[in-house]
Amino acid sequence: MGLRKKGSMLGLLTIFLLDGLLPSMAYIHYYRFSLKETNFTRLCFTKPMLTVNRLFPGPTIRVFKGEKAFVNVRNDGKYGVTIHWHGVKQPLNPWSDGPENITQCPIQPGQNFTYEVIFSDEEGTLWWHAHSDWSRATVHGPIVVLPGRGKAYPFPRPYLETTLVLASWFNTDVKELIDNAMAIGGDPEPSDGFTINGWPGALYNCPNETIYRLRVVYGKTYLLRLVNAIMNEEMFFAIAGHNFTVVAQDGAYIKPIPTSYIMITPGQTMDILLTANQTPSYYYIAARPFFDSGAPFDNTTTTAILQYGNVIAAPTNITLPTLPIQTDHDSADNFTSKIKALASKEHPISVPKNVTRHVLITVSVNQLPCELTNGTCGGPNGNRISASLNNISFATPTTDILQAYYRSLPNVFDNDFSDQPPLFFNFSGVDSSTFLLPEVGTKVLFIEYGASVEIVYQGTNVGNPENHPMHLHGYSFYVVGSAYGNWNATTSPAIYNLIDPPEVNTIGVPKNGWTAIRFVANNPGVWFMHCHLERHASWGMDTVIVVKNGPSNGTSIRQPPSNLPICV
Ligand code: C2O
Ligand code: CU
Repeated sequence: MGLRKKGSMLGLLTIFLLDGLLPSMAYIHYYRFSLKETNFTRLCFTKPMLTVNRLFPGPTIRVFKGEKAFVNVRNDGKYGVTIHWHGVKQPLNPWSDGPENITQCPIQPGQNFTYEVIFSDEEGTLWWHAHSDWSRATVHGPIVVLPGRGKAYPFPRPYLETTLVLASWFNTDVKELIDNAMAIGGDPEPSDGFTINGWPGALYNCPNETIYRLRVVYGKTYLLRLVNAIMNEEMFFAIAGHNFTVVAQDGAYIKPIPTSYIMITPGQTMDILLTANQTPSYYYIAARPFFDSGAPFDNTTTTAILQYGNVIAAPTNITLPTLPIQTDHDSADNFTSKIKALASKEHPISVPKNVTRHVLITVSVNQLPCELTNGTCGGPNGNRISASLNNISFATPTTDILQAYYRSLPNVFDNDFSDQPPLFFNFSGVDSSTFLLPEVGTKVLFIEYGASVEIVYQGTNVGNPENHPMHLHGYSFYVVGSAYGNWNATTSPAIYNLIDPPEVNTIGVPKNGWTAIRFVANNPGVWFMHCHLERHASWGMDTVIVVKNGPSNGTSIRQPPSNLPICV
């Protein structure tokens, strides 16, 4: 008997036996996800929430680099649901990527579907989440990708590692919340709080103690795998009395950043080394928004306790960490600008130097005329709030785009998403009323297989300017540059970093600024691209990239699985 893996029935634990004896053997992991409405009496939630395996956050998927997991998802909830493996590239396999009506139709109540999650060069922390309506609020969990078998971390081995998931806490049915907001075209209600590993912490009026405790041993170093699963707010995060070191982001290593706080956007993950080297006591871990716009947001602070194991009695006053104030973009930028790829011999980068396809995409919050019979919507001046990329507000089709593309079905999407915005003006400065009104459509950007792509996201001062964490499925990409103001074809590339740009899957485009990313289009498929602020995605700040097949089977989309959910 060689290597065998045993998964428990619920897929919560994967135990490796005789680990590492046969490095060439392909490992496959099996998980079972059961989606159900669950009551959490341990929190101050009063509404039942949809969870996986009655867990919030959901179960962790744990693999070694380059392995594969099959996840059977059974939906016993009220609405159709899909699951997305955020940051997993799924080479040639968009069929298991998950965004609803982009790569599949939803798994209906009473039905199940098995996803094949194919890992390749990802290493570090990623996560999975529901990708239909706002169900990802409660349906999400970490993905841990360990170094290849027999390989080590590029930093001293931590004593222990753990995941920390930041999430939004709505004391209401999130589907009703977003449906109501979309019906009248106004801002959705902000969440009622945030949680760390499912617990809101000490600063909410919960009847019982509802705080997550991270117990540590003095002198030991811990690897904290932090996931921002929050719906609508970028977050500052800090630990009282402790500096720590960020060593990875979005499943790729970075040059270690010693810091006293981080800023993490929805969709991002960060791996943090924390040494318990302070006076043994209790310290608060805290997170609250970095929010630099006029839109309503959840202005609360979630906490957890870092607790040294040998302390018997809790101190009367536990210290809160100092977090930058909510609008402090200098502190946000200060941290973000330090992130550089590790770019070592063991973990090299391969950023395209010569770009063959240039795309400039404006990112805007817009308004549409109100179509309601009383003529008054919930947005500014009675308009409907909308959002767009290149002034196209994305309309989600009812048949999935992957199916339509693969089978050449007509009337599902248009292939004319443009490489340029329809109008050039001072994007980051003067507000353009022309640009306030987007075109609604399902337009898709086609890219040739193998192209070296540069996408510049240009934030605009249209509507309500804000930071936008842009996420691309099917790829990670290099962030080669970012600045305030308008991107300029001559002067902006001069400040690009092509030496050690970070490789990520989600990047915050600064308010009234731009961010340039590069990648090689080597993964054919239908890949969603959108702002990871959920309300912006709901308003249409999305598009789809179709990377065409290459010349061979090994460079073409695989056959669809036989049991894909049926579109109803
Ligand atoms: Cu994390 Cu399209 O999603
Ligand atoms: Cu956005």
